[in-house]
Amino acid sequence: MATLYFRQLLAGRDFGAQTPYAGQMANFVYLIGDRDTGEALIVDPAWAVRELVDIAAADDMTITGALVTHYHPDHCGGNMMGLSIDGLPTLLDVAPCPIHVHKAEAHGVKFVTGVSDSDLVTHDSNDVVKVGGVEVELLHTPGHTPGSLCFKVKDSLISGDTLFLSGCGRTDLPGGDSDELFRSLQKLRKLPGETTLFPGHNYGGHSAPIESVRASNIYFKPETLQQWHQLHNH
Ligand SMILES: [Fe+2]
Repeated sequence: MATLYFRQLLAGRDFGAQTPYAGQMANFVYLIGDRDTGEALIVDPAWAVRELVDIAAADDMTITGALVTHYHPDHCGGNMMGLSIDGLPTLLDVAPCPIHVHKAEAHGVKFVTGVSDSDLVTHDSNDVVKVGGVEVELLHTPGHTPGSLCFKVKDSLISGDTLFLSGCGRTDLPGGDSDELFRSLQKLRKLPGETTLFPGHNYGGHSAPIESVRASNIYFKPETLQQWHQLHNH
């Protein structure tokens, strides 16, 4: 038995209120844990990591691992657009723990954050990471980046930059692949409609049942590669 602990935290509002650009980037960070054991995983720690660890501590939760959706610095720290964004190195300082990534993303995560192989646990699709008695399933959803992951916990899906309430991830950045993103979105379309989508940014909202996102998000509608190409031409 386990008692699920799940929090969604918005950069610039729930943490990083004093951090330049955190609010404009509107990243979401998630805490997933087991209330019974007091252990939690942090998803995409960035912008103000000490505050995030303190938020977990104020809930009597200890960070015992990190999950990274993808290697872009607004999700794991590093330099982007002339900004030096706080991220994984701070986490390793204040709350040392294993960092879980897809094997195809390990290189990028090391490159942008400076963490080393020994800090990472690399995964294949459908691996499960346990925190206390709570299981998190890792779904490989390439397209925005080669090793993008979504995280499924009970009937919630944390989708990183693969899918937002409005729109989907860009594929015009290095490692992006439009056809791969289409196939990944098909994988997400097959999830039960009552699954709640929790995206990586506040683009069009905080969360919604996946069936309502299927109805409202044009990038989530195409069922064939041909329909996708008509819509999405990068
Ligand atoms: Fe991204």
